Amino acid sequence: MGFTSVFILPVLVVLVAGMYYLYNEIVKFMSKSVVRNKVVVITDAVSGLGKECSRVFHMGGARLILCGKSWEKLEALYDALNSVADPSVTFTPKLVLLDLSDINGIPEVTREILECYGCVDVLISNASMKVKAPVQTLSLEMDKKIMDTNYFGPITLTKGLLPSMTSRRTGHLVLVNSIQGKLAMPFRTAYAASKHAAQAFFDCLRAEVEEYGISVSTISPTFIRSYHLQPEQANWEKNIWKFFFRKLSHGVHPVEVADEILRTVSRKKKEVLMANPVPRAALYIRSFFPGLFFAVVAAGVKDVTLVEEEKQ
Ligand SMILES: NC(=O)c1ccc[n+]([C@@H]2O[C@H](COP(=O)([O-])OP(=O)(O)OC[C@H]3O[C@@H](n4cnc5c(N)ncnc54)[C@H](OP(=O)(O)O)[C@@H]3O)[C@@H](O)[C@H]2O)c1
Repeated sequence: MGFTSVFILPVLVVLVAGMYYLYNEIVKFMSKSVVRNKVVVITDAVSGLGKECSRVFHMGGARLILCGKSWEKLEALYDALNSVADPSVTFTPKLVLLDLSDINGIPEVTREILECYGCVDVLISNASMKVKAPVQTLSLEMDKKIMDTNYFGPITLTKGLLPSMTSRRTGHLVLVNSIQGKLAMPFRTAYAASKHAAQAFFDCLRAEVEEYGISVSTISPTFIRSYHLQPEQANWEKNIWKFFFRKLSHGVHPVEVADEILRTVSRKKKEVLMANPVPRAALYIRSFFPGLFFAVVAAGVKDVTLVEEEKQ
């Protein structure tokens, strides 16, 4: 390899990385301006991802309606958002108590949400309840609670807000789902079932409401890292391989998912899968070679059982 090519390659890499960085910054800036003045509802705004979404949309100048199960947590979030924001470009968020497992209470909450600004432009359905346990240890009561929180609750709220969106001929419904809405994993029976149900509902809805100018997006991350672990700074000279390795091997940080949700809203993306190559490949294997997929998953379960037995 000649001297010129040895010299040109790193320059090219730095140039491409620089352009990619610039492109992302421009997209981020434009995405923020798209949500300015928009009425955005975030369910479970107090969770790891919910908080980050609230921050991103708040800074973008959206008129936020933050929903959550705990009034104390909502107030803490409200204070945190107001303490860092410039009041000349942001709106003071409205707070609404919402327990998605209380299906009978959702129509009243829907009215309260609509009374805040008279309409909703974007609904981000983020709340969900997780459970990981062998099927026989989960009571039917727990199965139903998970279906209520992850499926019946979000769809009741969506249906409640739909008429106001269809009459205005505009709106955006965003479902924060999970790869488990596409790929069923052992020990996640109720959670995966509820996420599959929600995915199917929003996929059907997308086609039905398109003619009313309403967009439907689903965002499916594999694993969202703990909120407290800050993403490493992208130091391009030192960390470019580390950066790619992190993308390949670990889950995403709530900051990255929130930025992706903002981009999804601004570009009206229909479906986003935030997954590294292994779960992506698993999705294809599940579709094209189901026998192989089931065998690998069953072998994984046997391994877990053996380890558990050895521990006892
Ligand atoms: N974390 C991951 O690895 C991951 C991966 C893929 C997809 N996702 C999806 O990303 C979204 C956000 O997840 P997250 O990890 O940020 O959440 P999280 O930190 O696990 O918190 C779950 C939240 O849901 C709330 N919640 C539970 N039951 C509720 C109900 N009945 N009504 C209203 N709120 C309720 C909880 O409130 P309390 O604390 O007050 O109970 C808590 O704030 C979810 O849709 C999840 O499925 C997460």
